[in-house]
Amino acid sequence: MKNWIGAASVLVVGLSVTAASAQSGNAARGQRVFNTQCKACHTLEKDGASTAGPNLYGVFGRKAGAGAGYEFSDAMKNSGIVWDDATMADYNRDPKGKVPGTKMVFNGVKNAGQLADLVAYLKEATK
Ligand code: HEC
Repeated sequence: MKNWIGAASVLVVGLSVTAASAQSGNAARGQRVFNTQCKACHTLEKDGASTAGPNLYGVFGRKAGAGAGYEFSDAMKNSGIVWDDATMADYNRDPKGKVPGTKMVFNGVKNAGQLADLVAYLKEATK
């Protein structure tokens, strides 16, 4: 019984961290995260180029792997993900864990604060 309670509280803490990281980001700080960790492979503006990775304009609300002008992996196309704050944070925390077989070669943003800032920035910069 004690163990069960322990496991449950770990789960609750885990969930609240996820919720916090998906909501309370700072977009200005997130731009720095994007510039240092994502910009080599992604553009965000309308009609931006797809380079190593897809252009991310309009990505929120869209199904994963559905953007035009880029050849996504089957893993991404079949992931069933629809991009919102929570899925964006989850994926970028651990791309290969969340979408096994993705061709996005990136370890993930492990810092919860940076991840929240990044999502806040992406929401602004991709619409
Ligand atoms: C080394 C290049 C590279 C880096 C760095 C990189 N990505 Fe990607 N990204 C890709 C590739 C390649 C894909 C396509 C994945 C696939 O089809 O499996 C992708 C896919 C994505 C997608 C899915 C887009 C869609 O329309 O479904 C998102 C969202 C994304 N990346 C966000 C990011 C963010 C945010 C960062 C920085 C934290 C980042 N990526 C860093 C190469 C990269």
